Amino acid sequence: MIEDKKDKYLVTFRPSGKRGYIEAGRSVGEAALELGVDLENICGGRGVCGKCRVRIKEGLLGRHDIKTGVKGLSPLTDSERKRLTRQEKSDGYRLACQARIYDNITVFVPEESRVGKQIVRKAATERAVNLEPAVKKYYVEMKPASLEEPQADWERLQAELKKRFGLDNLIIDYTVLLNLRKAMRLNDWKVTVTLWMNREVIKIEPGFVDKGYGLAVDIGTTTMVGYLCDLSGGEVAASDSMINPQVIYGADVMSRITYIMANDSGLERAHRAVIKAINQIARRAALQAGVKREDIVDVSVVGNTCMHHIFLSIDPSGLGQSPFTPAIHHSLDIKARDLGLKISPGAYVHVLPIEAGFVGADNVGVLIAEEPHKQNDIMLIIDIGTNGELVLGNRKRLISSSCATGPAFEGAQIKYGMCAAPEAIEKVKIDPVTKEVHFKVIGGADWDVDSGAVKAKGICGSGIVDAVAEMLKAGILQRSGRFNIDLGTPRLRRTEKGPEFVIAWANETAIGQDITLCQGDIRAVQLAKGAMYAGAKLMMCRLGVARLDKVVLAGAFGSYIDKESALTLGLFPDCPLEDIYSVGNAAGDGARLALLNMDKRSEADEIAREVEYIELAVEPDFATQFSQAMYFPHKKDEFPHLSELFQAKKNSEVKGMKTC
Ligand code: FES
Repeated sequence: MIEDKKDKYLVTFRPSGKRGYIEAGRSVGEAALELGVDLENICGGRGVCGKCRVRIKEGLLGRHDIKTGVKGLSPLTDSERKRLTRQEKSDGYRLACQARIYDNITVFVPEESRVGKQIVRKAATERAVNLEPAVKKYYVEMKPASLEEPQADWERLQAELKKRFGLDNLIIDYTVLLNLRKAMRLNDWKVTVTLWMNREVIKIEPGFVDKGYGLAVDIGTTTMVGYLCDLSGGEVAASDSMINPQVIYGADVMSRITYIMANDSGLERAHRAVIKAINQIARRAALQAGVKREDIVDVSVVGNTCMHHIFLSIDPSGLGQSPFTPAIHHSLDIKARDLGLKISPGAYVHVLPIEAGFVGADNVGVLIAEEPHKQNDIMLIIDIGTNGELVLGNRKRLISSSCATGPAFEGAQIKYGMCAAPEAIEKVKIDPVTKEVHFKVIGGADWDVDSGAVKAKGICGSGIVDAVAEMLKAGILQRSGRFNIDLGTPRLRRTEKGPEFVIAWANETAIGQDITLCQGDIRAVQLAKGAMYAGAKLMMCRLGVARLDKVVLAGAFGSYIDKESALTLGLFPDCPLEDIYSVGNAAGDGARLALLNMDKRSEADEIAREVEYIELAVEPDFATQFSQAMYFPHKKDEFPHLSELFQAKKNSEVKGMKTC
């Protein structure tokens, strides 16, 4: 029998059957997250994307005779009135992020509102590193205590470590001290001691233990990943990732800062959410590797400045207002237990330094992984996440900046956009003559949908970039972003809201509707790419360089976009195609390097101080650069390496073609 809980209501989700008691006033979206229900949340619950549609079931709730229905929810918000059709409203549809719970309810999550398991595309890349971790193990055999030699346990261990390994002036963690007596006697006075920075005993184990593990964590605004590394060999023993649970407090850093500023317990909630997530990642990665969470004796963490502050439970409000100063720049070493991390109790967490308010420890991670400060070539590194972070320069000088790309490349603000999950269209090709579309969905083995294959549910970032680039090359789009209407293809059609192009027909989709890209979608892509290009261009002016030798695309999204499509769009200034590289999750790789090599920690501290941060928003030329960069690939700048690609488009363009 289900008992009533004061100020909590029973929420049941269908078809998953997941249910639980949720505090009055929390949103259906928050309830879904708490109960582990698969539900879209692209805009972070701001009521903007309209992807979290759910239907509230009327009637009695199962065997328990509990009444359920739309009346158990807060009234429709403006956002719901705008985004739901009249039919949907009368059918009991609500936006999960908007509807607040004030009674027992049953919620049906339709197919199009389910995420599936998001593909967190942040795999570790092989990188050479000298193994010199901050944590090392020492095996010690001691003489048993006796009346003749009644030395205290800690002094006995210290003396042995000094005699055998020359280790002096050691201290011991309090929790280790509590366990010391037992550990020394359990295996005949033979122990393995784990030392942090050859300074502090952070663990003691009876007998000989050669393996110790470290966890490198990348806290992204949208996704989090942890790499469990064997500290004795340097290999990644396991990795695990998940959506950052803070997304319910906002999709981007600014909305999370706003949430924290507006809610007394906002910081605590967001901090607890990220700590809980890291504990989950650590537990799952340890399980995968067949070790215990307590075997993790070191952690390194990267994240943008806002994620860094929230992880440390530091108020990020200062990052939301001019002059956008962070609370601390320098790296930190903190006891993991002080942050609530459930690993070896004496272990430390090393948090990499940050550069500026909007260029954080994740960017420092990218720098120590890609090492532009050791190269002669002028390198532009673009880390495309929910925010775009840019670094430009070489061994002589490095500058960095950040730009608000918006969530278009993550699928938000795009009508049929979705995150990189199964059934998302990830690659697109368009025949320049027939305008026929071929696409590939995540989870599908082949291009196009044939009978029984995985059907498309929406389009993710890499698919959006491909689709827009292909539409340009096929002459469907003009460089200004307008559609070339009257091409004689049924895929390009006029609607009440303007023209749209059909990427997938309804019979090829899992949602029973055509998946299209409309004018608004193209504008969202233009805004995102315009901001990125303008940022890169202003940095080139500041550095006094006219061309790029190399472009490095970092981050999950950067790793999956087609570089030719990216250049076609003008995501960045011209560069030879062969000098554009995707390097995977370089921020996470930087965290791994800092975990495995202490010199990399020093290098991170030095480089974080050397990089000059420029604030793009105050650059006088920004507005002009931005408006020119809205064009595909740019209004004025030359793209010699694209000329061949555009030849195809030019050939297919009809002179005097009508536009709309
Ligand atoms: S509208 Fe609810 S998550 Fe975007």
